[in-house]
Amino acid sequence: MSELESAAGEGSEPTALVGVTGCIAAYKTCELVRLLQKAGVRVKVVMTPMGAEFVTPATFRALTRTEVALAPIDDATAPIHHISLAQEADVFIIAPATANTINKLANGVADNLLTTTALATEAPMLIAPAMNVHMWRDETTQASLARLRSRGVIILEPEAGYLACGELGEGRLAAVEEIARWAQAELERARDLGGRRVLITAGPTREYIDPVRFLSNPSSGATGYAIAEEAARRGAEVVLVSGPTTLSDPFGCTVVRVTSAREMFEAAERAFDEKPCDAAVFTAAVADYQPAEQQQHKLKKGEQGSELSLRLVATTDILKTLAARKGSTVVVGFAAETRDVIAAAERKLREKNADLIVANDVSSPELGFASAHNHWHFVSAAGVESTDVLPKRTLARLLLDAVASRLAQGNQGGEAK
Ligand code: CTP
Repeated sequence: MSELESAAGEGSEPTALVGVTGCIAAYKTCELVRLLQKAGVRVKVVMTPMGAEFVTPATFRALTRTEVALAPIDDATAPIHHISLAQEADVFIIAPATANTINKLANGVADNLLTTTALATEAPMLIAPAMNVHMWRDETTQASLARLRSRGVIILEPEAGYLACGELGEGRLAAVEEIARWAQAELERARDLGGRRVLITAGPTREYIDPVRFLSNPSSGATGYAIAEEAARRGAEVVLVSGPTTLSDPFGCTVVRVTSAREMFEAAERAFDEKPCDAAVFTAAVADYQPAEQQQHKLKKGEQGSELSLRLVATTDILKTLAARKGSTVVVGFAAETRDVIAAAERKLREKNADLIVANDVSSPELGFASAHNHWHFVSAAGVESTDVLPKRTLARLLLDAVASRLAQGNQGGEAK
């Protein structure tokens, strides 16, 4: 029996419903089906009429050894076909997903068996888009994706490269191995953080000099938001204390919006003290210094002369202050470094009394702050584990695997001294 079968209950294979829409990448879905089957997953395929133009249902019928679902009334044994499919699915993967289907799903349009089933299912949904780069970047497509994300749908972003249409840019279906990994993980872990409370800090802070000028940094908040969304989906009660970002509230989280390091500290401390936290993940890029005084009125160039000195005072280290009284809370910090990455993380692990420091090198322009991908080193008392270069969302998932495993073992990280 595979691990997935044991997770689903003895003798019962978990079922992945795979949706195929009308896109040239549909041929890659055959490989996805095989990968899932190899992992012990039972696969059923549902196709849109256009999807069936790209790869014939006969191919999927042969691969899955079962009928392919095509039309709402095509199965005499399942009189309400979209409902039986919706209930059967332990995970619903739509790969490839066209812009058309994505826009329909975002708006609740149910005009074929795939979209009707998507509306009816309660299973976790993974969408792997594939399309032309301009269709991908289109405002409507992006708004629909944001809408779906806010409902807890996992979007496996397309890769950049040469597209079937001959253009260069984002739009290639995510690697099928990556899609299969997400689907398997979804089936395995479902709700492993159920009943846990997790505090997360995210984003930059702004330290105002005067009413219109501030000191800040380019953190987008994306990492913290991805961790928050993932933790909520895995059943945790999540409090996300966020500095100013352009991101919308992640699905299922309590979000406290703050501006300055001081406000972030106060909000985080409140959340940490009001109810015990099982884990606290400090991803925020908090300003280490704030202006000693904040001017009430806008500074005027003419009044300052040719030089202006700014006196700064240290802010409170939120992680260090809260970790000093952490008890059994799993405390995770981040270290964004430009040199001696591991050594700096090991120092922060000790000095801040954290259980885990996630270190990353932000000197590379392709990775770090503004990038959708990153390469992390998990530094703990047990040693260093490094990841491949992976999408931030996948990294968030790996981090929560580490947190969940520590929680399952009763966090042996130790009490604060
Ligand atoms: N951190 C925090 N509060 C602060 C500063 C940092 O909670 N006032 C947290 C960050 O969220 C991160 C970790 O501490 O998890 C490391 O932050 P970093 O800025 O890399 O470290 P510093 O303590 O500022 O050390 P250094 O300036 O030497 O890199």
